[in-house]
Amino acid sequence: MSQASTSADVPSMGRRQFMNLILGGSAAVTALGAIYPVAAYFVPPSRGGAGGGVAAKDALGNDVIASKFLADHQAGDRVLAQGLKGDPTYIVVNDNKEIASYGLNAVCTHLGCVVPWNVAENKFMCPCHGSQYNAEGKVVRGPAPLSLALAHATVADDVVQFSTWTETDFRTNEAPWWS
Ligand code: FES
Repeated sequence: MSQASTSADVPSMGRRQFMNLILGGSAAVTALGAIYPVAAYFVPPSRGGAGGGVAAKDALGNDVIASKFLADHQAGDRVLAQGLKGDPTYIVVNDNKEIASYGLNAVCTHLGCVVPWNVAENKFMCPCHGSQYNAEGKVVRGPAPLSLALAHATVADDVVQFSTWTETDFRTNEAPWWS
């Protein structure tokens, strides 16, 4: 009797375990289904992907590799790269020796010279007519009428990427004049 009961229980246990497995698997699939869109949201777009980011290029036209770039540069550096629409754009290394979340379009807002970074003065100083911009690209001396344009800077797959900055200009609290 007890043996019959035991033998009857065995397949019963087996079914329960099987169902647990199925249900557990379903729960895992459901959880993955819920997590994936969230995870995908936080993963920056791939190179030239739907998010509109484009890889920053060095002087040779190669993608700027973030790990190598940070090994070669110091906190506070502003380094020219090719950015959106081919515009010369500074990659900024912040005080924590990370790539800042913004890049600076190097085209002077006066008559379009490329503005060099002056380390000693901690400013961008235009050689053409003397305009100056602070370390964040905010105009501090004319004749340039506007601050340097911003771009978002992110790192995806160890590649530095720029994308269009459409939000408020954090330096002026005004709408971006460039978009
Ligand atoms: S082009 Fe830069 S100051 Fe004129």
